Amino acid sequence: MIDLWYKDAVFYEVYIRAYHDSNADGHGDLAGLTEKLDYLKELGVDCLWLLPIYPSPLKDDGYDIADYYGVHSTYGSVDDFKTLVDEAHARGLRIIADLVLNHTSDQHPWFQAARQDKDSPYRDYYVWSDSDQKYTGTRIIFTDTEPSNWSWDEAAGQYFWHRFFATQPDLNFDNPAVREEMKKVAKFWLDMGIDGFRADAVPYLIEREGTGNENLPETHEYLKELRAFIDQHYPGRVLLCEANMWPEDVRPYFGDPSIPGQAEFQMGFHFPIMPRIFMALKKGDVSDMVEIINRTPPIPAECQWCTFLRNHDELTLEMVTEEERQWMWQHYAPEPRMKLNLGIRRRLAPLLDNNRRKIELANSILFTLTGSPIIYYGDEIGMGDNIWLDDRNGVRTPMQWNPDPSAGFSDAAPEGFYAPVIDSTPYGPDSVNVADQQADPKSLLNTIQKMIAIRKQYKAFGWGDFKWIDTGTAAVAAYRRKYKDERLLIFNNLTDQIQTVSIPVARVTNVYPIDILGNRRLPPLENGYLSLMLAPYRYLWLRI
Ligand code: GLC
Repeated sequence: MIDLWYKDAVFYEVYIRAYHDSNADGHGDLAGLTEKLDYLKELGVDCLWLLPIYPSPLKDDGYDIADYYGVHSTYGSVDDFKTLVDEAHARGLRIIADLVLNHTSDQHPWFQAARQDKDSPYRDYYVWSDSDQKYTGTRIIFTDTEPSNWSWDEAAGQYFWHRFFATQPDLNFDNPAVREEMKKVAKFWLDMGIDGFRADAVPYLIEREGTGNENLPETHEYLKELRAFIDQHYPGRVLLCEANMWPEDVRPYFGDPSIPGQAEFQMGFHFPIMPRIFMALKKGDVSDMVEIINRTPPIPAECQWCTFLRNHDELTLEMVTEEERQWMWQHYAPEPRMKLNLGIRRRLAPLLDNNRRKIELANSILFTLTGSPIIYYGDEIGMGDNIWLDDRNGVRTPMQWNPDPSAGFSDAAPEGFYAPVIDSTPYGPDSVNVADQQADPKSLLNTIQKMIAIRKQYKAFGWGDFKWIDTGTAAVAAYRRKYKDERLLIFNNLTDQIQTVSIPVARVTNVYPIDILGNRRLPPLENGYLSLMLAPYRYLWLRI
């Protein structure tokens, strides 16, 4: 029997460089994270997702890998990684790592060999062309920096293909050697005992003329091959799919696990629901969320969506219409520096005006919707951002552990930190930090910890079905989660007004709801009707 632990796990995304510095060099490291595992255990999360930790020139913060078999020197060593995995497991925490299949760094020895010698076996590891007019139907992802998906390489005398930065040449997955290399990479880290991978940028593995070069059948074929390899040698390890696509296009990434060899991922991020949560909060109207959830196809029983509010990238607006994108920018990125590519480079708390009720409400939605939630490091304490840093660095600043100017992140002199600690009011460490929030029972941190703890008491969140409740008003996001005899009703008032709702629940007498977060019994239903008055931005998780 394979343990489907990810079905009702809570994930936590960690950027190692930002988390905790154990050796006072100004960069967070693996040993630093190991020292903070007790904090994460107490928070109640089940699985950590580590952003890339491999040797890299850091042109894309580690998503440009120069060596798949090592650890970036400032992060520590492979031994430190083993210690981290062991210590996490000893606490019942799991770890997944980033698996970057689509591309390497241009500093990777494969690419260096490829560009210097047409006859090198590595030449065909990448995608070359004499002309930059191939695959013209392919969109550009990093629209702010990349004019083309082709870049000229002087040494090679050819153009090479890249879906991301020009420093990240795409690997050629038509080459059987590349397909095997990446299985070897997966094996190396799985042998170290990790619990799986978050697989980066998977829609772009294979190119075919005349297509948009995304989600191609040939790409799915390779992903099935990779999954079969992992299932055979490491049954139960999980693969989480990063495909920033519409629900119907993500569905094939789960494959068909009931047929041998046809499974792909156990989990997939639900990208399109994310901006619609922000739309709902700003409009005070749930309709956009309803539309996208209703449009989401069912997935196999052993699979699970992964939901998130923010992550290490810009808040992506790829999965909305042009009109919605403009609307999101207008409301959530009023300053030009807040925009990046097709998104918004801001953190959760500033996006929600640092309004405690809105931040809690957003988390209430995150923890009760269908899927397994992921928390982005620092959002559990309401960290701020720094839009003056380049690229996505403004949401990757040092974790704020205590009120010191160093935020307790590192013993190095703050000038030597990889990035400045947030110092803008009201987000500086003196007002936003773990230590103070741990000591305050009413803090955001303690509220989130409680939401996680309550979530874990009910199978319905991870395993139950999901059904919208019609309350007669779009101002309330209301839904039922049901699993066996567990029946939960969730209400989120999306507005700054009091909302009253009355819905039929049961015909039997003597039924009373329990507020599971507040641990109190509500008055019994009247004639089978549940009537509620919801304060502005109030959320209620009820058990019937
Ligand atoms: C993914 C990562 C992003 C990275 C890109 C290229 O989208 O989340 O940070 O830049 O892939 O690897």
